[in-house]
Order: sequence, then structure tokens, then C-alpha cells
Amino acid sequence: MTKNENFKSKITVYVVVCWILAAFGGLMFGYDIGISGGVTAMDDFLIKFFPVVHERKLHAKEDNYCKYDNQFLQLFTSSLYLAALVSSFAASKVCTKFGRKPTILVASTFFLAGAALSAAAQNIWMIIIPRILLGIGVGFGNEAVPLFLSEIAPVQHRGAVNILFQLFVTIGIFFANLVNYGTSKLHPNGWRVSLGLAGVPAGFLFIGSLIITETPSSLIERGNYSKGLKTLKKIRGVEDVEAEFEQIKLASDIAHQVKHPFKELMKPSSMPPLIIAVLLQVFQQFTGINAIMFYAPVLFQTVGFKDDASLLSSVITGIVNVASTLVSVYAVDKVGRRILLLQACVQMFISQIAIGVILLLNLNATNLLTRAEAIVVVFLVCLFVMAFAWSWGPLGWLIPSETFPLETRTAGFAFAVSSNMFFTFLIAQAFLSMMCHLRAYIFIFFAGWILVMFMFALFLLPETKNVPIDVMVERVWKQHPVWKKFMD
Ligand code: BGC
Repeated sequence: MTKNENFKSKITVYVVVCWILAAFGGLMFGYDIGISGGVTAMDDFLIKFFPVVHERKLHAKEDNYCKYDNQFLQLFTSSLYLAALVSSFAASKVCTKFGRKPTILVASTFFLAGAALSAAAQNIWMIIIPRILLGIGVGFGNEAVPLFLSEIAPVQHRGAVNILFQLFVTIGIFFANLVNYGTSKLHPNGWRVSLGLAGVPAGFLFIGSLIITETPSSLIERGNYSKGLKTLKKIRGVEDVEAEFEQIKLASDIAHQVKHPFKELMKPSSMPPLIIAVLLQVFQQFTGINAIMFYAPVLFQTVGFKDDASLLSSVITGIVNVASTLVSVYAVDKVGRRILLLQACVQMFISQIAIGVILLLNLNATNLLTRAEAIVVVFLVCLFVMAFAWSWGPLGWLIPSETFPLETRTAGFAFAVSSNMFFTFLIAQAFLSMMCHLRAYIFIFFAGWILVMFMFALFLLPETKNVPIDVMVERVWKQHPVWKKFMD
């Protein structure tokens, strides 16, 4: 039994099951991220929906950096994120009014519909519309799952439990890479299998959403005190939960005085967690991670691998992504959030600059890198992914889910989700065109952002390790040299 802040808890089988089932929301998100890059690299898919792009691919020798620059092709990848952006606000309302559990159920239903329809697509709109359904699923899932995990976790393990979401994201990406590797050999309908298999994690999430508990915070906030207390006892595995119950009740009393969470969020005292949440997500995307997650196969083809080898290389980055996320599950509640973010900036900066320099010196519009150079690029990409995976990846979701007070938590977190989606959309939509124009300098561009985010983490980001979620205002924001000026 662990004791912290007078909050007692044991880790029970039921609570672990709840964590894992909810984390399937992350798997869905990851699968969607990982699948589209490989699918858009498949000839059968291109011939059916994007014949012009396919034509250009055949003459790719003309220009390495520009072979896939096609706004419509990018719309296939990025439409999902636009839908998720909009739907995360609706998800925040559902989350507050009905709870985290029903929000997860809605997410899984959209995922199931999206997966089924995209596998059956006959024309371009029939692949874009299911992407929108999947996007709505992502909006609902990404809103509810990280909040669910942070609220249900005992304080001393909150970081690790929340990072299960990101761990499942990385497993989803990896699983998608593997699937693409297999289905790229299935002609002419391999891409249908890739898109349709999203139904598997969606099914798990659907069943999971029926089994998991509601969080005590959400029950108590909605006036269900006795059920909230019962649930708290059940998930903590002990009878003596009075102190924690009182703290949640206090937070919920304050929350009840707030009728319009979105208005409340615009007050100066809400700015610190809001600014931090949004910036974390913006910076997360400006690491350039999704240039790699979406387009790794394209990128690896660009540096000279054949189709197969480039898909295989993205499987390698997928493994690195999963394994390195485990590091943060272990470290986040021990070394804290800031150290991870700062260390990763250094590692990501070095790898981006090195990739940029190698490409600048060795890859022009028409040649190929030597085998050795291409392997060094893959190695550097792995170093970059590794650093992201134990820092900005998981913490971009964890920190915004744990720093808002109850009254603005779902609304504030919706801003985090939508910022993530907006910048994911932007990168998905713009990356291939940016690569066409900036060429190898694109990596230097991302490296520049990494410098900015280092400064941000150093000066503006408070440490939230081991602080109970419902006392963040007192313990974190009111104590921080910069942010305390905003607090009443
Ligand atoms: C990000 C995604 C990214 C993934 C990579 C997530 O935290 O939000 O945009 O693709 O990490 O593992």
C-alpha cells in the first residue's frame, strides 16, 4: 500500500483493466496516424484515387524532394485532424455533462463506422468522409482518455498511468506500420485491409467503454456523491479514501460556481494552464515528429531506399517509438516532467541538424544517397524519435490533463486537443510542399523550433510531479515566479 498526501491506494486488477481498456483510445489515434503514410505510398491506392500523383511517382527521378507534393493527397491524411479539431469542443461538453465514460463510447462508435466505410471506399470522397468520421472519433477519444487516466490514477503514479495513452498511440503507429508492410504486397486491395483493420482497436475500445468505471471527479462534479465515493474506494482498493474524497468535493464545489467553463477559461487566472497546454501541443507538433510519422516511407524513399526497405525502415522507427515511450512511463514520476523535456530538446536538436546537413551536402534533386549515408539518416531519425517518445510526445498529453482545475478541465483540455489537431493538420497538409520548397532546410527549420521550446521548458514550465490534481492552483500556479502574477 502506498501513502501520499494522506491518500491511500492499492493497485487493483480492476483499475489496471480500466487503464488498459481506456488506453485503446490511444491505439486508435496511433493507428490512424501510422496507417495513412504507408497507404498513400501504395501504388494500387494511388492508381485508384490519385492517378496524377502516381504518374509523377513514376517519373520521380525528376526531383527527389517534390515527388509527392499534392495537396489533394495530403488532404486524405489531414482531413482527419480537422474533424478532430472541431469535435474536441463538442467532446468537452459531453465529457462535462455526461462523463468521461460515455465520451469514450461515442469515440469508439465513430471509429467503428469510419473503419468500416473506408475499407469499402470506391471513390475519393468515400475515403475522405470516413477519415472525417475517424477524426470525430479522435476528437472524442483524445479529449476523454487522457483526462480519464489522469483522474483515475493515484497521484504518485499519475504520470505513468497517463502515459499509457501515449504508449498505446505508439503501439498503434507501430501496428499500422506492420500492417502496411504486409498489405503493400496484397494487390490490388491491400490498402482496404490497412484501412479496415482500424476496426480491431475500435472494437476493443467499444467493449472497453462498456466495462470501465466513470471517474470519481466526474461523478462528484455531476452531483453523484455516493457513487463517487463508492467508485473512489473501488479504484483505490481501500476503504479509507476520505481525504481524497474531500479534496475532490472541494474542487467540485468550486466548479459548481462556474456556469460557463469556456468563459471562465478566458479569465487571467485561467491563462497559465491554458497557455502551457496550448504551447505544449503546438511545440509538440513543431518538433517535426509527424513529418516522420506520416511520411517516413516517403522520406526514406527520398533518401534512396526502395519501396520495401523504406516501409521496413518505418517499422524500425515504430519499434524505437514504443520502446522509448516505456522509458518515460518509468521515469516521469521519478525524474519529473521538466528534465525529460529539456534533455529531449538537446537530443532532437542535434539529430535534426545532422540530418539537415547530411541531406544538404549529399542529396540534390536527382541523385540518391549512398547506402551508408541513408543508413546514417535512418539512425539519426531513430535518435530523434527516441527523444520525442520519452518527452514531448507523452508530456504534451499528460501535462494539460493534470494542470487545469476541475471547473475548466474539460474545456481547457479541449483547447489542448484542438491545438494538437490544428498543428498536426498543418504539418500533414504542408510538409510535403514544404519539403519541396525548403528541401533539406526543412530539418533546420524544425531544429529552430526546438531551440524555442527548450527556452519555454526552462523558464515557463512548472514541475507537476507528485502534486495532486485538485490542488494544482495552490501548489503550482500560485507559487510559480511568472504565473503567480495571473492568479487572484
Ligand atoms: C502526437 C502525435 C504523434 C505521436 C507519435 C503523439 O503524442 O500527438 O502527433 O504522431 O505522438 O508517437
